[in-house]
Amino acid sequence: MNILIIGNGGREHAIAEALLKNKETERVYISTHNGGAHERIINAELPNNDIASIDKFLAKTQIDLVIVGPERFLSEGIIDHLEAKGIKAFGPRKSAARLESSKAFAKEFMEKYQIPTAKYLRYDNYMTALSGLLEFGYPVVIKADGLCGGKGVSICQNEKEAVQALTDIFHNRIFGDQGAEIVMEQFLSGFEASLLCFVSGNKIYPFDTAMDYKKIYDNDLGPNTGGVGCISPNPYWTPDLDQQSNEIIRKIEQGLAEENLGFTGILFIGYLVENGKLYVLEFNTRFGDPETEVLLPRLKSDLLTNIMQAIEGKPVELDFADNNVAMTTILVSQGYPGKYETGYEISGLDLVDPDILVYHNGTKQIIDANSDPKVKVVTNGGRVLSVVAVKENLAAARQAVYTNIDKIHFDNMSYRMDIGKIIDNYKN
Ligand code: GLY
Repeated sequence: MNILIIGNGGREHAIAEALLKNKETERVYISTHNGGAHERIINAELPNNDIASIDKFLAKTQIDLVIVGPERFLSEGIIDHLEAKGIKAFGPRKSAARLESSKAFAKEFMEKYQIPTAKYLRYDNYMTALSGLLEFGYPVVIKADGLCGGKGVSICQNEKEAVQALTDIFHNRIFGDQGAEIVMEQFLSGFEASLLCFVSGNKIYPFDTAMDYKKIYDNDLGPNTGGVGCISPNPYWTPDLDQQSNEIIRKIEQGLAEENLGFTGILFIGYLVENGKLYVLEFNTRFGDPETEVLLPRLKSDLLTNIMQAIEGKPVELDFADNNVAMTTILVSQGYPGKYETGYEISGLDLVDPDILVYHNGTKQIIDANSDPKVKVVTNGGRVLSVVAVKENLAAARQAVYTNIDKIHFDNMSYRMDIGKIIDNYKN
């Protein structure tokens, strides 16, 4: 079987390696370029990262299954498009992908099916949105309705910040049409938990939990990123939260069936735990990044089999190791999530311990005829490498990750030192 994965980051690299564990998988193609490519993970190097380029590639290459990583393609309806051409594809159709691509749609769904979430109001113009500020007080959360590459959420501490956020969205149109509407919502404080689930035939099959570290600096300081560290299972998850989550999942299943969304794919429930109570912050309709890098190494069932079960609307026989912990710290380019430089050679990848996984988030292979070896790997993004350890407990995983990071080098390398450190006030 030949599989095309759309996307090219650490998430896609982790999916590709997991698919290769199935002996039916011959080759996995990455739609653009991932520096971790090898003889069975092949860079398709599509010149334009768009549906037309994908179509051209599919016309000349025998591909049996397409798996979609990034939300943008799902919101553009790539699954509907591929299905119409008779190509097997894994992910939700455009109508179901709205659970991620429209914050307002997701909040309405939560409200209708009594899924606990922060109180919210919707606005489509600046003046009425200003009046909404009086309803919430501060801090208040302002979210652009559409997809904004992780930049569409502002937590405003005071009126000045809130007015600025509304001005940027409605007057300066920094998110274009993705900000034509906003969701304004109550600020909840606590810790976050990620729960990825397979959805097949409107039934939900959850993976184990994970905890994403979104801020760039230690102690959760600095701006938000795409995620710079992750642990699975989430160390603060309790049996009581599990019970609350199961109730929420039943309500989501009811909603998916009643709305006739025909959801097939991954539903990623972004939870927030405030004083022991679980709230849904957001839905994503795809694998999370970096969650995938710590979840897939703990999967005991076969990923390709699980994906095919979901596509065929069958029960997904997901099986997880329950006696281990996976942790990743992501090595980033200094300056990320702001401006950063790329093109620095990465050394030491051959020195890491054999049981350590290194997924490539933003790297590139280049040929240098004058060097030995001739293929060099250089930095090519803000997030560069996910260094993952799977061990019997968090302390052992943490030690293995940081010991191995010491063996890797590139200029301007930066990373958080506190991934996996236990924070007492997160405990319930
Ligand atoms: N880790 C958050 C996300 O994938 O959006």
